[in-house]
Amino acid sequence: MSQANDHPNINPLREGLSTRAVPQPCSVVIFGATGDLTHRKLIPALYNLAADGDLPPAVAVVGFARREKTDGDFRKELEESTRKFSRQPVRDEIWNTFAQAVYYHQSDFSDEAGYKSLAERLDKIDTERGTRGNRLFYFAVAPDQFEPIVKHLKAAGLNEACEGSWARVIVEKPFGTDLASARELNRVVRSSFSEEQTYRIDHFLGKETAQNILVLRFANAIFEPLWNARYLDHVQITASETLGVEGRAGYYEGAGALRDMVQNHLLQLLCLIAMEPPTDLSADSIRDEKVKVVRSLRRMTKEDVAINALRGQYAEGAINGKPVVGYRAEKNVDPKSITETYVALRLFIDNWRWSDVPIYLRVGKRLPKSGTEISVHFKKAPLVLFNKEATTLDQNVLVIRIQPDEGISLRMQAKMPGTSFRIEPVKMDFHYGTSFGKASPEAYERLLLDAMSGDATLFARRDEVEEAWLFIDPIEQAWHSEKDAPPLCFYPSGSWGPEEADELLAREGRIWRRL
Ligand code: BG6
Repeated sequence: MSQANDHPNINPLREGLSTRAVPQPCSVVIFGATGDLTHRKLIPALYNLAADGDLPPAVAVVGFARREKTDGDFRKELEESTRKFSRQPVRDEIWNTFAQAVYYHQSDFSDEAGYKSLAERLDKIDTERGTRGNRLFYFAVAPDQFEPIVKHLKAAGLNEACEGSWARVIVEKPFGTDLASARELNRVVRSSFSEEQTYRIDHFLGKETAQNILVLRFANAIFEPLWNARYLDHVQITASETLGVEGRAGYYEGAGALRDMVQNHLLQLLCLIAMEPPTDLSADSIRDEKVKVVRSLRRMTKEDVAINALRGQYAEGAINGKPVVGYRAEKNVDPKSITETYVALRLFIDNWRWSDVPIYLRVGKRLPKSGTEISVHFKKAPLVLFNKEATTLDQNVLVIRIQPDEGISLRMQAKMPGTSFRIEPVKMDFHYGTSFGKASPEAYERLLLDAMSGDATLFARRDEVEEAWLFIDPIEQAWHSEKDAPPLCFYPSGSWGPEEADELLAREGRIWRRL
């Protein structure tokens, strides 16, 4: 009998991350194979999985792109970029074996014949490499390419697998630019792939500490009883980057920080922090709870946007002592651009647990430090006992560092050693690196493995994405309205954003946490 059956509290039928599915042999077909994402993230992630022995025994990678090149050329280019971007140094013997299973398929995305020959090639790979007819299609392309790709995959019969095998599609962000376009993209993908086959990637969910939020909250008995409006003062979520737009103006000019980071990554982190305990750890139970959080976000009117949302754009300044240009002077950026590179929001989740607890979100490019963290600020203890020793007591703050230096810390009050009675804040600190002694895998490693295993827990479901746009759209509309649009504020590169963002908290006697 299994251990689970011996235990009266464990239902053996429940699924979960703890009983992780096993990744299966498959061909990974990457559309947009010559692009940045493939070189910087996808191939290095697959290589690292191979190096750690985590890839299934038979995996083939087929790059699908327009440019003419041979398998050999493609492998060579990928080797160069993997050597540059890989988490661990590339070892020749592992790379050589891995590269043997990498192929290049040249075709235009709209060329029917290219998909027919792809189908033949995949059949051949199945026979030669034992990939068992399983196909994982990765759309590393702009969303306007989705339609021809899904249409032709369907026409070539590649959207459905033969019995005993599977076909899945991973879709990269941006998943729409507003609710209407997200719905349209969902419709397009759905015309060929069911929701169960569709994996919408949000790489923040693959970050080790983001996954640890559920464990922290629900595998420890001490936090959950305090995790509500009665004990919490507020929550801050910050994602700051020293990087600027980095040659991505073509995309970023039409997106801006709210669409690029808040609609997806920050709202996903917020869901993990704010969700109710799921009934089990299956993909849908977790996503059911997450979607309830987004649905409960208080929608902002135009007046609310003026008070609770702030947008900024970086001006020239210095990062790590080196001068950098302002956003408007970046390549391919309109010199009068009003695209925001910084966003600060004050929002509320209108449900019982979070009633009237302010949540502050902040993202920005060209800030002094790169880091993502969530801080949960508890209400202060009453001062009555210590009013002779202190004029104020600091709040307890639980900080979850998503990156870098992944870990968790708790700020508490302690008595300074000595004969006098002085109270000072101290920190209990847990660092992933030192506690577990091994580096966390890259987000894409985890997510690719999950897609190969058929585990959609860490991927966004259709309703989550659409609900997130329902919250974001009114903010975008207010910012882009012809009349009385709230101003765009400017901040010097290398500063912590526009001064006006401090006001958002200062009017309630709070300050942003320094990273
Ligand atoms: C991407 C955004 O999704 O996330 C980028 O498009 C941003 O603008 C990046 O720089 C940040 O991700 P990470 O993992 O580097 O923090």
